Amino acid sequence: MCGIIGITGRDDAIDGIVAGLKRLEYRGYDSAGVVANDGRDLRVVKRAGKLEQLTGALAGQPLASRAGIGHTRWATHGAPTDRNAHPHVEPAGRVAVVHNGIIENYQSLKAGLGDVRFASDTDSEVVAHLVGRELETMDAPDLFDAVRRVLPQLRGAYSLCFTALDDPETIVVAKYEAPLIVAHADGVGYCASDVTALIAYTRDVAALRDGQVARISPDGIEVTDAEGALAEPHRYTVNWDLDAAEKQGYDHFMLKEIFEQPQAVLDTLLDRYTAPEPGSSPRLHLDELRIDELDLARIDKVFVLACGTSLHAGMVGKLAIEHWAGIPVDVEVASEFRYRDPIVDPHTLVIAISQSGETVDTIAAASHARDQRAPVLAICNVVGSTLAREADGVLYTHAGPEVAVASTKAFTTQIVGSLLIGLYLAQVRGRMYATETADIIARLQQIPTALERVLELDGEIRELAERYKDTDYTMFIGRHAGLPIAMEGALKLKEISYLHAEAFPAGEMKHGPIALIEPGSLVVALASAGHVFAKMVSNIQEVRARGASVLALGTDGSTAELKEHADHVLTLPEAPHELAGPVLSVVPLQLVSYHVATLRGEDVDQPRNLAKTVTVE
Ligand code: AGP
Repeated sequence: MCGIIGITGRDDAIDGIVAGLKRLEYRGYDSAGVVANDGRDLRVVKRAGKLEQLTGALAGQPLASRAGIGHTRWATHGAPTDRNAHPHVEPAGRVAVVHNGIIENYQSLKAGLGDVRFASDTDSEVVAHLVGRELETMDAPDLFDAVRRVLPQLRGAYSLCFTALDDPETIVVAKYEAPLIVAHADGVGYCASDVTALIAYTRDVAALRDGQVARISPDGIEVTDAEGALAEPHRYTVNWDLDAAEKQGYDHFMLKEIFEQPQAVLDTLLDRYTAPEPGSSPRLHLDELRIDELDLARIDKVFVLACGTSLHAGMVGKLAIEHWAGIPVDVEVASEFRYRDPIVDPHTLVIAISQSGETVDTIAAASHARDQRAPVLAICNVVGSTLAREADGVLYTHAGPEVAVASTKAFTTQIVGSLLIGLYLAQVRGRMYATETADIIARLQQIPTALERVLELDGEIRELAERYKDTDYTMFIGRHAGLPIAMEGALKLKEISYLHAEAFPAGEMKHGPIALIEPGSLVVALASAGHVFAKMVSNIQEVRARGASVLALGTDGSTAELKEHADHVLTLPEAPHELAGPVLSVVPLQLVSYHVATLRGEDVDQPRNLAKTVTVE
């Protein structure tokens, strides 16, 4: 979603801002803009479309100033046009603002301003007007104080970043339910929506907490709460570097991230199983745990809450928790959870899964559960993110930065994280002998090598993509651990190649979806060896009998039989554990989607209409 960057204290501030916007591109956007503040004018350049439109416009009118702010906008209120792009300047030309989030009461705020002309259709512009009005009323105009006076009037979610002519080298930012990072290095002050924009300058950053306001200048950063009392943001050091955020010779981030999966899984499994004291039994541990293990032992129900790809990882987590820990698990789309009456109490564990840790639906659902005193465990990739900070315990997925909008390595590491939590819950509830846990952990350690073998299929998968790239509609079917992967395969294909795809539990086909099958239909079947393999073979025969072409994903042990029933079989290595199978079987589907999308000429890393981090409801 919208990306924000502000820099103060550098002669080439605007170049730095444009470079930061480039790094924020992955979040998804449809217009971009900057404002340079040299103390005489607020000079705004903004364009609909990709960043090239903005840089093209800047080439014709270079902006020199030591401070400025920039924005990539993902349209919510108002079409993605030049006039709706941020920054927005109030009528007196004194204050400019960029905003990520939604100001829900913008219409009443606009009405309250009387007969004023607005230059855009956005919800955000009204904030610039309100701050401008406050400055006009002040004997000694101060942007920081003016912003603090306006914030109580705003309803909704925001990270806001302001610059004003009165004090050109001061940037003021405010955060409420949308992420905002601040940093100071070598006499330069920075703010951004996420660390990716700042990693070239510093790894020491601070995430503002909800309600905090910060004054950023070349001299340093002052953070206060809404009342103006000094406050402490969440300070941390980023544990990856610029290299990790670059393409490193791959054509796309997505392909790089697919190929990083063996390492990402290895890192996620690293040092999870240790003996706390010499002589004691080895125990599994999470990264942060602020829940008493005795309370976890008394849990009688689990909700897994997540969105999109993370939800599919949660579906695998459900199988693991029910199988190993013996606790009933509901997996639910996070955006639905708080709008019904979920039965949640202190004996309910909520597992919230999010790559970014900033998905507003997931954060809100988790906080709804916490309000009812349910402990929340987060499975998160971004260290220091809102969800990770607010949860009672965190298992970090250590996948490294995921830049492509289509999630790949975050997904496989989320599955691994879910399996670890299943084992962990079994451990605290005394459901498993230490030797059993050790055996499963040892098997999980074999996943990275198996993943390397799956990645060797890339050439064969590209050929399949050539064959199927113009198929308008693809049906994915699976059972048990294959079902979440069928759903993930359909989502991947949809989101980056814009081809229609749906997933069904294979057993449901006869209850309706099989009516769609006709000669030439394409069905992708997840058919690894395992306890549902025979059932899958029957389901494959049913669609084949009605004329479908079947692409089956099998394993060493299932391929021979599959070849009799499918048009093409991709053979994966046997998974070291049936519940680890999804980590392997999703990879060919990621590669199929990638190749289909590139062959069709689509923008793989930044698919249309999508944002990497969904920070609005
Ligand atoms: C996956 O390819 C999508 N980009 C999307 O479904 C994503 O998984 C979802 O928006 C959740 O994001 P999160 O993991 O950062 O919370």
